[in-house]
Amino acid sequence: MSKSHIVSLNKAIELLIQGEIVAIPTETVYGLAANAENENAIRQVFRTKGRPLNHPLILHIADKNQVSNYALDIPDYAWELINQFWPGPLTLVFNAKKDKSLDLVRGGHDTIAIRCPKHPLTQELLSTLNFPLVAPSANPYEKISPTTAQHVCEAFSGANAVAVLDGGRCDMGIESTIIDVTHQNYYVILRHGMVALADICAVIPNAPYQENSDTAAPGKALKHYQPKTELIYFSSQQLLLDYVKQLTDSYYWLSFKDNKEHSIQPGFIFSNNRDDAFREFYYQLREADKHNVSKILIDLPPDSLQWQAIRERIFKAGRTSS
Ligand code: TXA
Ligand code: MG
Repeated sequence: MSKSHIVSLNKAIELLIQGEIVAIPTETVYGLAANAENENAIRQVFRTKGRPLNHPLILHIADKNQVSNYALDIPDYAWELINQFWPGPLTLVFNAKKDKSLDLVRGGHDTIAIRCPKHPLTQELLSTLNFPLVAPSANPYEKISPTTAQHVCEAFSGANAVAVLDGGRCDMGIESTIIDVTHQNYYVILRHGMVALADICAVIPNAPYQENSDTAAPGKALKHYQPKTELIYFSSQQLLLDYVKQLTDSYYWLSFKDNKEHSIQPGFIFSNNRDDAFREFYYQLREADKHNVSKILIDLPPDSLQWQAIRERIFKAGRTSS
């Protein structure tokens, strides 16, 4: 059975030019990259991930000024975001110049999601290639996103084995924030992520925003980011402790709150520093999965905007205890 394997930057460039797919590091998570102008290569990305064809992909560009090649009607406030956050972990969804990108990239929609990643290896890669890349997170559909080259290698083997460019462990550890900027006077948050809403509001204080209704109501949201082991979340640590009292199954505890009175073994306590906790989140979910327990229990971080990206992912990855 063939295995995923690490390749050099030059080999990654060669493979992408040949229309092969390559897993690449970004500052957020690893992406499964292909030439965004090569339909067969993109189909291979969908096949490898097991992702439905109508799920659009993010176009990754080398330089922020390339955005005008693909996007129409870019609002002034979107330029302010671009100038502040690109290269970096922010994806913007624009009205598309439809003749400039493949339907397959856009999932048949009239809009296109674009991001300019910051990881130095991938920047070098993109600026060498004369085409942009699509790069969904390099995980099988609905599973946990990878933050190391090793995670990608573990996830894809046999017919799905891929070449992986190793850029070390991802600095940020959570996907980019996605904002719909197709409206001139307001924007819509489609996915909370590395760039906090407070930081966006600080840059464009005069533009109002709306929450996408799917993200605002996690109960309705699709399953995503799932570990193999059942994940159950609790709105408070006390609720988790009450649950544990009656539990006969084995469990692993992930906590956002240090608790001196109760042993958290086996388990992990996330830092109360947001960036540190984000960097560890998927990584620790994978560690938890390795313990062969019946359940992973997690107490939610505070219900504040700062922690929304993690809360959103936990809601999609698990189920509530009640
Ligand atoms: O940090 C990231 O954004 C990573 C790294 C690898 O760049 N990529 C990533 O891609 O998270 P993916 O495909 O796993 O998630 C992209 C999300 C999907 O939920 C997709 O539905 C949404 O972006 N999306 C893409 N194009 C869109 C569009 N035109 N309109 C609305 N949502 C879109
Ligand atoms: Mg993904």
